[in-house]
Amino acid sequence: MKHFLSIKDCTRADILDLLNTADQLKYEHKNNIPHKLLEGKTLGMIFDEVSTRTRVSFEVGMYQLGGNAMFLPTEALQINKGEPVADTARVLSRFLDAVMIRTPSQAALEEYASHSDIPVINGLTDEWHPCQVIGDLMTIREYKISFRGLKIAYIGSGNNVANSLISACAKLGIQISMACPEGFFPADDVIKLGLDSNTLTLTSDPKAAIDGADVVYTGIWHTLSEKYDAAARAKIFEGYTLNSELLSLASPDALVLHCLPATRGEEISADVLEAHSKMIFDQTENRLHAQKAILASLVK
Ligand code: CP
Repeated sequence: MKHFLSIKDCTRADILDLLNTADQLKYEHKNNIPHKLLEGKTLGMIFDEVSTRTRVSFEVGMYQLGGNAMFLPTEALQINKGEPVADTARVLSRFLDAVMIRTPSQAALEEYASHSDIPVINGLTDEWHPCQVIGDLMTIREYKISFRGLKIAYIGSGNNVANSLISACAKLGIQISMACPEGFFPADDVIKLGLDSNTLTLTSDPKAAIDGADVVYTGIWHTLSEKYDAAARAKIFEGYTLNSELLSLASPDALVLHCLPATRGEEISADVLEAHSKMIFDQTENRLHAQKAILASLVK
């Protein structure tokens, strides 16, 4: 891989290599085994939107790998005053060893990457959140040992995480049952990938999706907040809150995942989140190890 822009671009082998490297790097970190694989390297982190997990985990990850990370909010760059994307990419290629970008537009990210001589990593766009999903898969394998025979249920908006999960499941042969309200389905090409690989079941019935699931995943609805206020969201997603009643339909030992930040009372009830907080915060921590694997694999 030259860049890491979406899960759709990854092969099954790419994903498994990243997961194996992430497991190894987590083991080394937990056992104080030095792993300064990126000594002297610098990651630029361009943020066009706010972040807690992505920013901190990339910055700490580079530090643990022996390198440095530089926070570059777009409002502090000349790009904000009209310097072309192509020039920004070529300039930063002369100073940095890799760039992570969070921006709403996947097209803008891909345009940047097309002009970049150094690896570009997607730190979230409206269409994809590939770093999140590598950490999620790592967590699923940690808790469930193997992907074989698992059923993942995803309940919520067909957003960037949903697109990434469907694509990863298609590549790895994992069954995913996804419930999204009508009009809030994942991208058409992603649905096709899931259906063609016989790994995706898509419904607007959360109870059908979660039935017997080994892994239950939900995430924020707030990507819709620019268009829909809380009252409208409650109407669109009626019946989609992961509460104890809905969760009781899953396997009794289901792994509950949430990409965070969470809005209690919307996509997940406070009691379900707290009862499964160990899993959910393990999932958050695994962003660190997964992204270290992505960096170690891309940066030469
Ligand atoms: N899940 C996630 O990407 O979190 P941040 O928006 O805080 O980076």
